[in-house]
Amino acid sequence: MHILFAILLLFVAQVCAIPSGFGRETNSQRIARGLPPLPAKFGKVLPGRDQFYKPTPAFVKRSAASASASPSASPSASALTYIGRIRATSDDGLPLGYVKSSLGLDSTPDDDLWVRVNANWAGGPTDLIGLNFRIGPSFIGARASGAGHLARRSPATLDLMPVRQTLPGGLPALSADNTYGSAIWTVDLETKELRAKWINFDGSIPSTIIAYDQDRKTFFLTGDIEAYNEHHNASACGVSFHVTKD
Ligand SMILES: *[C@@H]1O[C@H](CO)[C@@H](O)[C@H](O)[C@H]1NC(C)=O
Repeated sequence: MHILFAILLLFVAQVCAIPSGFGRETNSQRIARGLPPLPAKFGKVLPGRDQFYKPTPAFVKRSAASASASPSASPSASALTYIGRIRATSDDGLPLGYVKSSLGLDSTPDDDLWVRVNANWAGGPTDLIGLNFRIGPSFIGARASGAGHLARRSPATLDLMPVRQTLPGGLPALSADNTYGSAIWTVDLETKELRAKWINFDGSIPSTIIAYDQDRKTFFLTGDIEAYNEHHNASACGVSFHVTKD
């Protein structure tokens, strides 16, 4: 089963970076095609939609159609889909390896996380979908217990983990004492660098650093890595992520 899945992933990886017509469809376009409107999803988690990534039948139909039909959307609306692993490099250029499905670096070598990301020409925020979590494909986002307010001179952090879907460019969602967001990723179309862009609950946009703490063995987001290291007596370093099919 695992081997089959790996072969399937490899096959999919071969055809990665295919331009796809996955651009967001408006409700009026949907209705014109005889489909029901999409549920409203502003500012909160879609009801009944868990952290699992479940494409709707319409989504599957559209993606199948886009393989044969030439996309009619304008370039700014069209998307580029990348499938691959995430290569982590420390800020001093040291290769750290591939992000594992534990969202750390520490587990067994064949446990590399595979992701799919839909980049867009505009460089706007997008979801990052982990394809081989044990619980099934999931949105990879950031979550904090508490406010998750990143800022300069603040040791506050957000953990990278599977979360429920939130709106690209929207405020993070709240659930009990947790703050989280999924569509916090942007992709550089040239370098395939994956950057995180957190939006604080008050709408402010902090500089968002992806960091790795060797002691905790986890990746996290912070607004100030020195403040984090000072506060936790840690030696975390900033890292860069690249999506790669190698
Ligand atoms: C901070 O960490 C270092 C090495 O990890 C340790 O030697 C030192 O005692 C720690 N300081 C405090 C205040 O915990």
